[in-house]
Order: sequence, then C-alpha cells, then structure tokens
Amino acid sequence: MKPPPPTTPAAASSSYAVVAEGLRKTYGGGRGAPATHALDGLDLAVPRGTVYGLLGPNGAGKTTAVRVLTTLTRADAGHATVAGYDVGRRPRDVRRRIGLTGQHTAVDGILTARQNLRMFGRLFHLDPAHARRRADELLEAFGLAHAADQQPQHFSGGMRRRLDLASSMILAPEVLFLDE
Ligand SMILES: Nc1ncnc2c1ncn2[C@@H]1O[C@H](COP(=O)(O)OP(=O)(O)OP(=O)(O)O)[C@@H](O)[C@H]1O
Ligand SMILES: [Mg+2]
Repeated sequence: MKPPPPTTPAAASSSYAVVAEGLRKTYGGGRGAPATHALDGLDLAVPRGTVYGLLGPNGAGKTTAVRVLTTLTRADAGHATVAGYDVGRRPRDVRRRIGLTGQHTAVDGILTARQNLRMFGRLFHLDPAHARRRADELLEAFGLAHAADQQPQHFSGGMRRRLDLASSMILAPEVLFLDE
C-alpha cells in the first residue's frame, strides 16, 4: 500500500519551506525534434524562515524549477514539497500557502497602483473593505504611497517591480517565490 500523502499537522511541522529531490523536466523531443533537459535531477532543501537564492545562466532551468514548485507545471520525475505539501499530490494546499512574483510583471499598466492591489485583493477573495485596507498597507510598506493613484505604465522599472512584489504579498504567504 502507498504511504498516505502528508497530513496537515505533519505538513505544518515540516521545518523546510521547500524540498526537491531529483526533479526532471524535458521539453520537446517528439517526432525527432531535439529535447531540452530543463531540469536534470534538481535537489534542493530550503529551511523555513530563510532567504534562498538559486543562481544560474540564462536557460539553466530556474523558471522551470519555479513553475514546478508553484504547481504551474508538473515535473516528469522526482518529488517536491512546498510548505510541507507534495506539489504533485496536494497542489491546492501548496497554492494556498505560496506567493509568486514571476519573471514578467503581472500588474496592469492602466489601473492605478491602488486599483491594482485592490483588484488582487478581490481576486484573493478579500471583501471590498479588507481589500482596500490591505492595498493601503502594502502601498505604505513598499514605499509606493506617493504613487498610489498613478498608472504603473508610467512607473520606473523598479517601482513596477515593487508593486508586483506587493501584489504577491496580499495574503502574507508562507513561502514566496521570486523569479528575478
Ligand atoms: N515551454 C517551453 N517549451 C520548450 N522549451 C522550454 C519551455 N520553457 C523553457 N524551455 C527551455 O528550457 C530551458 C530552461 O528554461 P528556463 O526558462 O527554465 O531558464 P531560466 O534559468 O529561467 O533562464 P533565464 O535566466 O533566461 O530566465 C531553456 O533551454 C528553455 O529554452
Ligand atoms: Mg527565467
């Protein structure tokens, strides 16, 4: 009989934010096309409460690793847990506990900074008053209060990145993934 997937108390007590063992992911390779081995046996162990940087040249597989760990794609082989939950077997439990700032900005250029954060709050199911409050807290925390009513299309790259980060912190996730 297969062992049961991690239960809530066990997962909560895991001292690792991320554990990956032998992750593999290959793109292409069908009909004689060349295969790209984006991940070729990635092992990682990131303790909770730490900041972990994963460096590598362009095309090394960093975004692919983030996509596997945030349940946006499945590994071909290997095993990973995030916040104590298996990314393959318990993707919903993983998604509830993570934030992701992707390599490309997710904020809307035309909505103002404040409207963007309120929209993300609503998408995360906060009620309107809570979403408004959280937006103001985050604008303050990320040094964007002065630009709250401006459109990100006119922001500098760094300001846009800060707004992007703020939008991943709406629910104060247990594990935050930052792809560059
Ligand atoms: N959807 C895809 N289909 C086919 N190949 C892909 C796909 N996504 C990534 N690749 C390939 O997988 C390899 C790893 O790509 P990935 O985007 O993970 O690298 P990266 O380390 O994030 O690079 P960068 O530093 O440029 O962001 C590259 O060779 C890339 O061309
Ligand atoms: Mg990348």
